[in-house]
Amino acid sequence: MNFVPTAGQALQALVQPAGNKLRIIARAAFASDPVTRLSTRGALAESTDIIANNQYVPMTLSTLTLRRPDDFHVHLRDAAEMRAVVGATAQVFGRAIVMPNLKPPITTTAAAADYRQRIIDALPKNCRFEPLMTLYLTDNTSADELLRAKDSGFVHAVKYYPAGATTNSESGVTSLARVSGALAAMERLGIVLSVHGEVTDADVDVFDRERVFIDRQLTAIVRDFPALRIVVEHITTREAAQFVNDASSVIAATITPQHLLYSRNALFAGGLRPHFYCLPVLKREVHRQALVAAATSGNPKFILGTDSAPHATGAKETSCGCAGCYSAPIAMPLYAEAFEDAGALDRLEGFASIHGAAFYGLARNNDSITLQREASSVPQSLEFGATTVTPLRAGTTLRWRVA
Ligand code: DOR
Ligand code: ZN
Repeated sequence: MNFVPTAGQALQALVQPAGNKLRIIARAAFASDPVTRLSTRGALAESTDIIANNQYVPMTLSTLTLRRPDDFHVHLRDAAEMRAVVGATAQVFGRAIVMPNLKPPITTTAAAADYRQRIIDALPKNCRFEPLMTLYLTDNTSADELLRAKDSGFVHAVKYYPAGATTNSESGVTSLARVSGALAAMERLGIVLSVHGEVTDADVDVFDRERVFIDRQLTAIVRDFPALRIVVEHITTREAAQFVNDASSVIAATITPQHLLYSRNALFAGGLRPHFYCLPVLKREVHRQALVAAATSGNPKFILGTDSAPHATGAKETSCGCAGCYSAPIAMPLYAEAFEDAGALDRLEGFASIHGAAFYGLARNNDSITLQREASSVPQSLEFGATTVTPLRAGTTLRWRVA
């Protein structure tokens, strides 16, 4: 077996028994991307095991170094709560699209500037994290406000929340007709529309809200504003993945770690599990599989966006709990699990560090992070201003950690 990876070559290999011979399928990845390195350990010993067991066994990677990722969808909240969570995102991600659903929502460029400054003031010294700000679209968002947003250089998207769809969406859009002027202005100015893709009609089943939004609203938006750049946020269904895949290159989608790792069964495993409750809600296993296929396909339309959405533990463990999973401190290990389970660790960097920057017209980050295969446990709770927040996967073990 002469299988000697050259230094610096990114490599994922599978050893496959073929009759009485060993076939090695190796994939050189990131050849054009010197920042990324996958390193392997114990490959030869493991391939002996493979012959004995006559099974497909992926070679085990011990570390994975990739260009620093960005989070294209995060909720940082404000004040003491923001100060408690921002470090988790800023430590790992170079930049993040910061959602505007505060109370009151960030509807103006002036408010986004103030919020941005509060975030920057809360960062540890010498931290180079860059918050990418968004405005909250309302029925009254004016073309002048959108022009100010464009000229600011720090507002990167405008978020469309259908009124009543999720946390702090009361001031959101009440009908498409009311925002057609704003969408036309955004199309003209080249501002990204970030969409929470769920209808709110009481007669639509909660598990169908995304699919129905695509049929009733997204299709019309794409038809009427064909040059409008759109990110369909936190997609959760096979239909959404298919829609984005088939759409023109101005349409992209973010995918969360929870929607890659869990189906709706996780919400009811042995009892009601409020920390798996987010919106759009987790769906059936077939949808999870379609999302994994999309995220690991290498298609640049699919982008990392955690939708990390912290709520106080008490606001989730109650008779009417808030929607949102707090994933920021463990996001990259979670994505690594999902990509590894799909045999696609070599595609993680594109999804996490390249596709989003390309879509938003940003330069790639030029430093790197390293993930190490080392079990680490997730704390039961973390400080959250005057209270605590329970992270996703609290009390369980992760397979990877950020070195
Ligand atoms: O689960 C969610 N939580 N989905 C959203 O769309 C909003 C978010 C939040 O802000 O809590
Ligand atoms: Zn969100």
